[in-house]
Amino acid sequence: MSQDKIIVPLDVPDLQSSIELVKKLPEVTFWKVGLELFVATGADILKFLKDEHKRIFLDLKFHDIPNTVKNATKSALSHDVDLLTLHATAGREALTAAAEVVKNSENQRLKLLAISVLTSINSRQLAFDLKIPLELPEYALNNALMAQECGIDGAVCSPHEVQKIKEVCGKDFLLVCPGVRPAWASVGDQQRIMTPKQALQQGADYLVIGRPITQAENPAQAWHKIIEECQ
Ligand code: C5P
Repeated sequence: MSQDKIIVPLDVPDLQSSIELVKKLPEVTFWKVGLELFVATGADILKFLKDEHKRIFLDLKFHDIPNTVKNATKSALSHDVDLLTLHATAGREALTAAAEVVKNSENQRLKLLAISVLTSINSRQLAFDLKIPLELPEYALNNALMAQECGIDGAVCSPHEVQKIKEVCGKDFLLVCPGVRPAWASVGDQQRIMTPKQALQQGADYLVIGRPITQAENPAQAWHKIIEECQ
């Protein structure tokens, strides 16, 4: 297994803590930058990661009108990020606009990932608050398919959904999975977890693994243990 399949989230509040974490884990090649850090540091964190020759998963979950999503995608492209998230519920026009930005650019490396439904939404909220008359898995799958039709490259999903989504969207639809825990790590607030090896066996293309590595007494050792277990 390539260790490039494991993405570690920079779930820290500022640039200095990010730099410390990246230096502690020199072998990690792929880092996730989310809203908290990006709002705190702006593009400085992206520049730092690029200067360190790292790949970047920019997890900003765009959800806006098509023109804004299109231009925000252009900005992300200019920072040379590798993965970028946007909500499928932004709609077909916004998804298509983002996909076209990438298609028409010289940087074909950027892959766009749809958020089909936030995992914090439960079936009760879906039915009663959002008035969506579908079961959650059906709704999530429908959104993933719509995103694919618009030219989006993949989705973020639980390892438990990988087989079904690959079956429906095809094996080239890129799937990135959080909710992964080695057997020896604390589960924390994650539910419906799988071990890294199981998640890869299901067909996940990338795994996002945070606290089992970043909160370990020795993060580099935890990283190595995970890589070995995946072989
Ligand atoms: O520490 P842990 O391995 O749980 O971190 C997982 C990362 O993936 C965090 O950055 C978390 O916000 C993110 N994430 C998630 N579940 C989702 C989407 C993103 O855990 N459905």
